[in-house]
Amino acid sequence: MEHFKNPRNMGEMKDADSVGEVGNPVCGDLMYIYIKVKERDGKEIIDDISFQTFGCAAAIATSSMITELAKGKTLEEGLNITRDDVAVSLDGLPPIKMHCSNLAADGLKKAIENYREKQK
Ligand code: FES
Repeated sequence: MEHFKNPRNMGEMKDADSVGEVGNPVCGDLMYIYIKVKERDGKEIIDDISFQTFGCAAAIATSSMITELAKGKTLEEGLNITRDDVAVSLDGLPPIKMHCSNLAADGLKKAIENYREKQK
């Protein structure tokens, strides 16, 4: 509830290096994850991250949490963040809302994959 009421890193990032767009056709929710990547000590780091989510309270809370989990991590570490990591970090989600945390993890993965695709 706290992440829903006071979401962290919310808003469009105009100069993002990459965006991940995901949606859930069942509930109609839509999420954008924006990332900015910097190289540090030979590693690609998620230097900045933000989100825009048009969806339920759990989708907003999970978006907010994934930005906190991913900020400062390497792209590889970002890819390894699971929906369970997101849910556990929020002190759990009702079973019916677990798919919302999937959306956040998938949004981050998509943003990282799009970034890598652009680099090729
Ligand atoms: Fe659709 Fe939460 S109900 S993401």
